[in-house]
Amino acid sequence: MADADPLQREFEFFATVCAEYCPLYAALSARVAEDESIRGMARGGHPQHPPANLLFGAVHYLLLCGADHPLQEFYPTVGGTRPAEDAWPVFRDFCRAHEEAIRNLVTTRLVQTNEVGRCGVLLPAFACVFALFDAPLHLIEVGASSGLNLLFDQYHYRYSNGVEVGPPSPARIETELRGESEPPLPRAMPAIAGRLGIDLAPVDVRDDDAMRWLESLVWPDMVERLALFRAAREIARQSPPRILGGDAMDLVPQALAAVPPDATPCIFHCHAIYQMDRAWRERFEALLTDLGAQRDFAHVSLEWLRDDPGPRLHLTLHHRGGAPQRTLLAEAHHHGKWLRWVAGG
Ligand SMILES: C[S@@+](CC[C@H](N)C(=O)[O-])C[C@H]1O[C@@H](n2cnc3c(N)ncnc32)[C@H](O)[C@@H]1O
Repeated sequence: MADADPLQREFEFFATVCAEYCPLYAALSARVAEDESIRGMARGGHPQHPPANLLFGAVHYLLLCGADHPLQEFYPTVGGTRPAEDAWPVFRDFCRAHEEAIRNLVTTRLVQTNEVGRCGVLLPAFACVFALFDAPLHLIEVGASSGLNLLFDQYHYRYSNGVEVGPPSPARIETELRGESEPPLPRAMPAIAGRLGIDLAPVDVRDDDAMRWLESLVWPDMVERLALFRAAREIARQSPPRILGGDAMDLVPQALAAVPPDATPCIFHCHAIYQMDRAWRERFEALLTDLGAQRDFAHVSLEWLRDDPGPRLHLTLHHRGGAPQRTLLAEAHHHGKWLRWVAGG
């Protein structure tokens, strides 16, 4: 018997990933897995980028652009209310009618989101770094996309233990705390001395079409995620963070060298380096170790690698003259809806 098409397994896997928070994609992905004519439209994208996200992103993009089709009735982000279990024949019809546009998007775009909810998980890590180094942070974000997470201190946070942090803001982030330990939530925002993004494909917050593609990667059942994204986008448009275009491997050394001596360099990334292969990730870790011999800095990583059960938040401290010290701080939800703190308080 021939092996199953790997793309079929991709869609079956994606259906399980979406099951808890996106019934629409869970239902559709299970059906796409079985239908070669539709899943074939997901072929030809960037090899490191998940084909299911690309296909569903392309369809969602066309709907957000105003494509007039009954599929709208199933997508809450465009006002739909019909049940997910009835969506498959309508979705298939939409894909057939828009095949050329879908293939064009799948083969030219990247899986790029900017998930502001993840800041609820990053904040305790930044607070740890600020407390440890006692100097304003200079943020360097790898895989910054449009840079919304670089502005984390301009959003308001509410954790499920009742703690609220941050200025009043139209971008309000709610994070559930799970497990026994509580993260060290700061009373005040860590001071920020500077912020710089690095991305293979930076997105300009003032470019409406590029921002719509980022919106398209938001799962359509998660209307509140889209509202948060749009609120953060409006904040960022007033003063967009600087983002360098290129590979982090090439740009991190110069970004680190440019950090003023009185600031604490804090290199971070979330849901970014999973897009690179293992060899790249190992070289990146070696690079950071080398750089740590020249300058003290902190490295915060919120990543989900395929072998891990879910996203994990790590803090690595690089001190000149010492080996890097890596601590697992928390397990987290993909979009930052919850975190389980596992490090000491
Ligand atoms: C899924 S998006 C996540 C964006 C953002 N970190 C977030 O959590 O919302 C991943 C981003 O990482 C970028 N990226 C992946 N590999 C990179 C690399 N080697 N150097 C720079 N950027 C990279 C991609 O271009 C993309 O914008």
